[in-house]
Amino acid sequence: MFQEKATANCLNIVKTSTEDGAFQKKGHSARVLSPEEAERLAKDQVLVSEFKQLKLEKEAQKNWDLFYKRNSTNFFKDRHWTTREFQELKACHEFADQKLTILEAGCGVGNCLFPLLEEDLNIFAYACDFSPRAVEYVKKNALYSTERCKVFQCDLTKDDLLDNIPADSVDVVTLIFVLSAIHPDKMHLVLRNIYKVLKPGKCVLFRDYGLYDHAMLRFKSGSKLGENFYVRQDGTRSYFFTEEWFLNEKFLASMHASLGRRIESSYLSFSRLRDMSKWSMNMCSEKL
Ligand SMILES: C[S@@+](CC[C@H](N)C(=O)[O-])C[C@H]1O[C@@H](n2cnc3c(N)ncnc32)[C@H](O)[C@@H]1O
Repeated sequence: MFQEKATANCLNIVKTSTEDGAFQKKGHSARVLSPEEAERLAKDQVLVSEFKQLKLEKEAQKNWDLFYKRNSTNFFKDRHWTTREFQELKACHEFADQKLTILEAGCGVGNCLFPLLEEDLNIFAYACDFSPRAVEYVKKNALYSTERCKVFQCDLTKDDLLDNIPADSVDVVTLIFVLSAIHPDKMHLVLRNIYKVLKPGKCVLFRDYGLYDHAMLRFKSGSKLGENFYVRQDGTRSYFFTEEWFLNEKFLASMHASLGRRIESSYLSFSRLRDMSKWSMNMCSEKL
């Protein structure tokens, strides 16, 4: 069962400009497994059949929409930690009362969006999700106002964000527990899409499951789709990130193909969050 409520072994990315346009890397270490956990994971090698995997990919949107049909707005807790954990959000304000435009990509029912709008009256937020039900819940929220936000339905892997957001207009993009729900082969498409609307040198704040999260260890055999990638009983999927993942050749090559430029020296910045089971990652790059 989907247990993100109870656990969060997380990873954050911030993308900002650096002199050499590179990613920055600091240190990080994954949660240490007990011998029993290590043995259990090592034994769990059987993958879900290719046929079922293709079906899950095809039905990803339907499965998330059904998730919101079952849970309505009651599943995720409001995320009041965003400004605390992402100091970069504050740093984006170059002067007091500066208006910021943000994009909450994969907003769900707004558990991150609305606390942010409440905390910072100088934010205008675009928000999107590929579940039509989630988008409707956002619109029905008492805090939703078209003066302060625009929510729309969109599959981040294929619908052009430029249809709803002007190019180079967003100061901060948040990706909170969203990339993990997307097939690893398509994650670069999401980043490419986001890139088009991001102002040069601005940030992508990313937070997601990290390797060996308790949620990963709870998957029963028969749920494994690939390395660090699992399916829940309701058909929604979850990837568990390592810092190395963003540096693997396949991902870098896809980013190259997407952005039209080779990322020469790449480095990511990781740091443990207050809670030892959480971790964060900063990904820095100038706009290509
Ligand atoms: C774990 S929920 C997180 C929701 C929200 N960010 C939050 O913090 O509460 C993952 C969200 O990603 C959305 N999602 C998954 N794949 C997507 C895609 N390809 N395009 C847009 N949204 C997607 C799902 O519909 C779901 O609302």
